[in-house]
Amino acid sequence: MPGRVYQCLSKIGESIIANKDFLTELDREIGDSDHGINMARGFHAVLEKVDPEAADIGASLKKAGMTLLSTVGGASGPLYGTAYMEAGKVLAGKTELTAEDMKAALEAAIAGIQKRGKAVKGEKTMLDAIIPASETYAAKIAEGADIVSALTAACQSAREGVEYTKTIIATKGRASYLGERSIGHQDPGATSATLTLEAIRDFLRG
Ligand SMILES: Nc1ncnc2c1ncn2[C@@H]1O[C@H](COP(=O)(O)OP(=O)(O)OP(=O)(O)O)[C@@H](O)[C@H]1O
Ligand SMILES: [Mg+2]
Repeated sequence: MPGRVYQCLSKIGESIIANKDFLTELDREIGDSDHGINMARGFHAVLEKVDPEAADIGASLKKAGMTLLSTVGGASGPLYGTAYMEAGKVLAGKTELTAEDMKAALEAAIAGIQKRGKAVKGEKTMLDAIIPASETYAAKIAEGADIVSALTAACQSAREGVEYTKTIIATKGRASYLGERSIGHQDPGATSATLTLEAIRDFLRG
């Protein structure tokens, strides 16, 4: 039976692959119709390259990040690749995940995405889902919530973030070429980021 980190990556991969056409359709509306295809290709590769037996969460996430970086392509490949690699650095050597570890990993992933992509909240990107999710997560664990209930609240914030992306103009990536015409469409990257968080939550909930 595969180790827990591989099982979690499988859960994320299953969701991304199951939503491949949906993500691609979203990207058809405001991009170049490849987000679902790119991400599904990336996760097929991740599930081939990451050692199913590995117990080290950090090492597995680093491997997943390197694989996403080299297989997803587009804007989201380097961004997701960096997110997983930075989360992997924070979790290096860990074989179990505490609520604090999860907070540190989310924050490191966001810092990596921002360093690489130079975007801030409100530009209609994956950050509009992940930043509010991370903020909610941190607030919940500060109140003493456990990892699953904090993540459940975080997923709700991520979903609200996706809704928010429908109301704003894209100022980063290909969608920015559309200007005002990008309003009304939800961001594909914010959607895939939310699916990712929901898959992690579902996995940890067991
Ligand atoms: N600078 C950025 N920072 C954070 N996320 C970004 C940035 N640029 C694009 N994205 C995210 O990447 C998603 C598009 O990923 P995709 O796999 O379709 O790559 P792409 O076709 O090269 O996209 P694009 O040129 O629109 O950025 C967007 O929906 C957005 O969420
Ligand atoms: Mg695209």
